[in-house]
Amino acid sequence: MKPREIVPDVLYVGAPDFDRRLFDSLIPLPDGTSYNAYLVRGREKIALVDSVEPMKRDVLEAYLADVPKVDLVISNHTEQDHSGSIPWLLKRYPGATVLSSETAKPMLVDHLGLDAGRIRTVADGERLDLGGKTLRFIYTPWVHWPETMSTYLEEDKILFSCDWFGSHIAQTDLFVDGVDRIEAEAKRYYAEIMMPFRPIVRKNLDKIKDLEIRLIAPSHGPIYRDPRSVIQAYRDWTDDKPHNVVVMPWVTMHGSTALMVDHLITALVERGINVLPFNMATADIGQLAMALVDAATIVVACPTVHVGPHPAVFNAVILANALRPKARFAAIIGAYGWAGQMAETVKAAMPSLRVELLGQVVAKGLPKRADIEALDALADAIAAKHRGLGLL
Ligand code: FEO
Repeated sequence: MKPREIVPDVLYVGAPDFDRRLFDSLIPLPDGTSYNAYLVRGREKIALVDSVEPMKRDVLEAYLADVPKVDLVISNHTEQDHSGSIPWLLKRYPGATVLSSETAKPMLVDHLGLDAGRIRTVADGERLDLGGKTLRFIYTPWVHWPETMSTYLEEDKILFSCDWFGSHIAQTDLFVDGVDRIEAEAKRYYAEIMMPFRPIVRKNLDKIKDLEIRLIAPSHGPIYRDPRSVIQAYRDWTDDKPHNVVVMPWVTMHGSTALMVDHLITALVERGINVLPFNMATADIGQLAMALVDAATIVVACPTVHVGPHPAVFNAVILANALRPKARFAAIIGAYGWAGQMAETVKAAMPSLRVELLGQVVAKGLPKRADIEALDALADAIAAKHRGLGLL
């Protein structure tokens, strides 16, 4: 299998993964994903930018079958979907040296058991001439781990961004023109991987704002021919201002919580608010994560199982807490049979959400008139907060 040319002497040697359906044993991948690796051929030295998930090593191996020499393996990010084939590469190319950020070096030793003597660290901003192909290393921490860097190829103006700007999609076409066609896949990726580090992602965007970029070549998904579109999408996603959206993870056991959900959705819509409900019995949690990227308010709608929250909704709360979206407000609604601490348990499970709790409405069995009135009051409170942010 021949490496695929992106521009002269910059070649694709990565692997689409059409069959993968779950990432991190967590986020569904309806469109698969890819693990991209790139060969950069200078007159004097050949560098490989990132490697592939070990389960797809055979693809990389086939691409490199007629590549007798690799001098440098650039490890932009230690996570194994990109670094996992480096141990094999170092055996295949005994003269090769791994280049990484300073933070990455001990991580590569810990995660892959690499010989520290074969890793050379590069400084932020350091440049390396391969012979007519000059690499510049740009530290871009927390996209997605603390050690992550991007590599910029000066002559061709290509940014190898690794996870940053990645998208979960497998396709044979190496390119996409703008982000529009794959915005859902890129947003799904951002939501799970980048959103918890939103302020730092924004700082990284500032760091590359004056860089002339012709192509963004991430390590998941296609290469962007119009880099401005995905950079603008990232600016929107990382912006502090949320949208006029309420995200509502819910389930129901005997119908009481569903009645409350239906009433609150109607009340919010009547007040001009967009509601994205997710029935957690069947929801794709990647869709939920994507909705959390923009939401101003999270309403947790949860029945009580024994004395605590229903695990399906509680799982959504734990996920939201881990992803730390920009939402400003939250509320809890739901029902119980005879007693319970559902709301208290839910509140205690979201310490990382910087939200103002606007209220809780918990009905004993079927919602009564007082519960319905409380839901209307909650809708008023949410609308007032959205108005206060200029969203309404
Ligand atoms: Fe695609 Fe953070 O690994």
